[in-house]
Amino acid sequence: MSLKQQNPKTTGRFIVFEGGDGAGKSTQAALLSAALRKNGHRVLQTREPGGTEIGEKLRSLVLDHGQGTVDARTEALMYAAARAAHVEQVIRPALEAGTMVVCDRFVDSSLAYQGIGRALGEDAVRSINEFATGGLRPDLTVLLDVTPAAGRSRRTTSIDGAPVAEDRLESEPDEFHGRIRDAFLHFADREPARYLVLDATDGVDTLAAAIDGAIAALETAPAEDQ
Ligand code: TYD
Repeated sequence: MSLKQQNPKTTGRFIVFEGGDGAGKSTQAALLSAALRKNGHRVLQTREPGGTEIGEKLRSLVLDHGQGTVDARTEALMYAAARAAHVEQVIRPALEAGTMVVCDRFVDSSLAYQGIGRALGEDAVRSINEFATGGLRPDLTVLLDVTPAAGRSRRTTSIDGAPVAEDRLESEPDEFHGRIRDAFLHFADREPARYLVLDATDGVDTLAAAIDGAIAALETAPAEDQ
């Protein structure tokens, strides 16, 4: 039995999946959540933007086509607003209750998409996100690295081969997605201890095994203050 099970008051771990559109984050987040539950953990699987009532509404506003012009600063603030609600109402309470939190995207997505992709600058986007999150950081970020071309082909074809429509961000050109990819790789390079970088085109089971291994190592390490 792990320490976490003996003492439910121990802070849970915060695990984030990041990567380009079509990287397969949601599949791996679901597999990891199931594996953690099987090992006796309480798990909260969630996503950004979203995870709260207001966050899901903001998600539609920021991602759906047809909302009129959404300029870059407005976009960054909408993601940050959804994140503030998510951290305050869902993520922090769960971590404090000893729950493992598995989240599809977090601050790095804003740094990459709005900071680099929309050219608002990493520092500006970081500072609104510091305010939004109170400085909460993931214990581990799993980066599923995918090229723009592979990401586009994966996200626009469903399992039965039918075409899938792209949302407002996904439909940006490959050049935009290439800059996002480079930004994620740069973040991981800068802080290798906080990231696990995997090739998103590896098989689902290969990826899941690598992720389980990294989380097992994390569980034995002392929890950082959140
Ligand atoms: P997501 O639901 O992860 O899309 P998918 O599952 O198709 O990869 O994310 C929705 C979109 O929002 C995605 O294109 C990335 C973008 N996004 C940002 O631009 N900034 C952010 O802070 C977040 C969380 C997402």
